Amino acid sequence: MIMTERLKYTDEIGAATAHLYDRVSDQYQEDHWKALAPYVYEINRLKKEKNAVILAHNYMTPDIFHCVGDIVGDSLKLAQEAAKSDADIIVQAGVHFMAETSKILCSDKIVLIPDVKAGCSLAEGINAADVALLREKYPGLPVITYVNTTAEVKAASDICCTSGNAVKIVEKIAKEWGVSEVLMIPDQYLAAYVATQIPDIKVHTYKGECEVHERFTGDDLRKVREKDPGVTILAHPECPQDVLEEADYAGSTAQMIDYVTDRQPAKVVLITECSMGDNIAKANPNVDFVRSCHLCPHMKRITLPKILHSLQTLETQVEVDPAVAKKAKEAVDYMLRLS
Ligand code: 13P
Ligand code: SF4
Repeated sequence: MIMTERLKYTDEIGAATAHLYDRVSDQYQEDHWKALAPYVYEINRLKKEKNAVILAHNYMTPDIFHCVGDIVGDSLKLAQEAAKSDADIIVQAGVHFMAETSKILCSDKIVLIPDVKAGCSLAEGINAADVALLREKYPGLPVITYVNTTAEVKAASDICCTSGNAVKIVEKIAKEWGVSEVLMIPDQYLAAYVATQIPDIKVHTYKGECEVHERFTGDDLRKVREKDPGVTILAHPECPQDVLEEADYAGSTAQMIDYVTDRQPAKVVLITECSMGDNIAKANPNVDFVRSCHLCPHMKRITLPKILHSLQTLETQVEVDPAVAKKAKEAVDYMLRLS
């Protein structure tokens, strides 16, 4: 990959980006900001010139999340916004399956992923042949597939879900199909969480897991509580069952942000990816964020220089085979209708 030459800071760039530095000044010292500001400036200029929009996931670092992201949110919001977008170009500041979802929903647009290696252990752990085998094992059950999957796996499914709407989707699909059992793939922990929320529906699943959230343990959370008895613990539903049992609340990345914003807990720990706390600390000055997080190596591949390079060169464009995209779109659209 040809990387852009290191850009230089000028006073003009400093003045033009001062309002953006205000948003992240608790995260970056002035010297560090001087290295970031030229990229922020140039990315925002190019976005206007090319009618591009940046969809940034909640796990992006604060420079991306607060300074160049046009739409920020969880997987559900990013998919909903991609479907509505009238930009010519979508830059997905997130991982590859998110970019594929955008391409599936907007086949006429250029969808760019700034680093094609930004994958996901859940998406890599299952393929369409696995889904076919599961259908044989559980005939007649609706196949509900987490969006953290490839287009071909979505295409082999009946409907998609995200962590933000998984419970609702399972409840609604079971009702629409008139069944009391479903097959929810590939995340065994998300499926186990959903099963605890709707005990009258039997949720069959697969052996997939997120390599980041599976690292948390119930013991980690008990230690946090012993040290800080008043702490509120929020966990992502990709975490194992014993972690969710110790947590005060389980929700998608956006639901965790809403919880903190609305309830203002005095002390909170976010059992998820590390950028989450960084991105919302400034807007919640009365909340003490206790750090106990893990980095997602895939999300962290996306950086300002790579976003700029992507916008300059229109690389790497995400393509999905039209027949696969058509089937995958049905599963994603079905989810968006029921959300
Ligand atoms: P959200 O849909 O909650 O944003 O999660 C996506 C993800 O990859 C979490 O690991
Ligand atoms: Fe995939 Fe886990 Fe990273 Fe989310 S945090 S992108 S589920 S590997």
